[in-house]
Amino acid sequence: MQNSQLLSAKVLESLLDGANLDKSFEVVFRENKNNKLEIQEAQIKALTYGSVRFLGKSRFIINYLVKNKIENRTVECLIHIALYQLSQEKFNDFTIVNQAVDAAKKIDFRKSKFVNAILRNYLRSKDDVYELLNKEQAAKYSYQNWWINKVKDEFKSDWEAILEIGNQHPPLTLRVNKRRITMQKYCEILIEHGLEHKEISNTGLIINKPLSINDIPGFMEGYISVQDFGAQIATELLDIKKGQKILDACAAPGGKTCNILESEDVDVTALEINKERADKISDNLNRLGLNANVIHGSLSNDNLWWKGEQFDRILLDVPCSASGIVRRHVDIKWLRQMGDLKKFSEMQYHLLKSAWPLIKSGGKLLYVTCSIFSNENRDVIERFKKEFRDAKEIDLIYLNTIKHIKNQLVPSENHDGLFYVLLQKN
Ligand SMILES: C[S@@+](CC[C@H](N)C(=O)[O-])C[C@H]1O[C@@H](n2cnc3c(N)ncnc32)[C@H](O)[C@@H]1O
Repeated sequence: MQNSQLLSAKVLESLLDGANLDKSFEVVFRENKNNKLEIQEAQIKALTYGSVRFLGKSRFIINYLVKNKIENRTVECLIHIALYQLSQEKFNDFTIVNQAVDAAKKIDFRKSKFVNAILRNYLRSKDDVYELLNKEQAAKYSYQNWWINKVKDEFKSDWEAILEIGNQHPPLTLRVNKRRITMQKYCEILIEHGLEHKEISNTGLIINKPLSINDIPGFMEGYISVQDFGAQIATELLDIKKGQKILDACAAPGGKTCNILESEDVDVTALEINKERADKISDNLNRLGLNANVIHGSLSNDNLWWKGEQFDRILLDVPCSASGIVRRHVDIKWLRQMGDLKKFSEMQYHLLKSAWPLIKSGGKLLYVTCSIFSNENRDVIERFKKEFRDAKEIDLIYLNTIKHIKNQLVPSENHDGLFYVLLQKN
């Protein structure tokens, strides 16, 4: 069995070098394939996710305890991992330190004493360190300073709660496929499996215990999908009527496409620029027993894939910073830079412009992001409405059932921070 701290440190190192977390796991797991790694994978993932959430704090602690720069990056990452574990108070402190010392020996034998000294020093001076740490916002909240300042600026009263929610474990939220099973029957299955849960809507529920996807009852049978509640409401907001022609213009992996098809008898075209991701839409449709016209193509000025028949409804779930789902994609808060928001907003504006000619007069387009930053949300919509005088914003009455500020869902325990605007064409 490999040392989990060591592998987790290697994943963190790759992340800090600029790779995203999924890629970093893939590389480290591939390189260490022959070591009965499967049993450890979940443990390594949990350790890494926790450490990435904690990184702002562990950076502060290392700066406080270590006077000179740590030359060996893997050793430094190992200390980050061990500091996170020590903060959890779930395990015996000395076991964690001993495991870290063993892992350090595998990286560079001479560095093991250094790791031992840092971690023991931390345990002795923990209270003092935390007193100072809590005075620095980047350490206290564990985000980049620009991110914290922006959230403070945009959410005058909710900023602290939003930052804290972003550091928590996300709930496991399911959407029941009512074409395959009723909510009541599915809840009975959960009870038979001893899985506590709460219903949050007619088709949405949260399971109290974290489970891997294949352990969720009825997943392969297409009874359910994993989808955040904030994303599940897209179908409700799109105001779909039986028989309509609908375009899901940025569709992969198809969560919202499938939700639409489960809710009404409509004709859906699912467009996706990325071939591999477009195949995932087809996989999901097959698993759930649904049908759509999946097109591998690009929403753009030319719309070369388009046959000329306009749509009643368009769902435009654009690529974005993902700042509203940071508790699920923990690497985002370290990888994103402030300048990225401008690039995203330009792309989003052009996607909106490219989608507009495809909609019928009187038809509706739902603009969606999973961002909490106005650059990608309100600003894009206001710019668009100024240029396109035939676009009218419609009140989203259903949103009033959920806490939102001007169409921005405020991330909470039960849902992520999505943004929705419904535009109607004159
Ligand atoms: C936020 S994701 C969509 C998530 C999806 N709606 C769901 O609920 O599962 C955005 C998707 O848009 C795709 N995309 C980006 N640019 C595109 C374009 N010009 N045309 C079509 N798809 C595009 C991305 O590859 C990505 O899969």
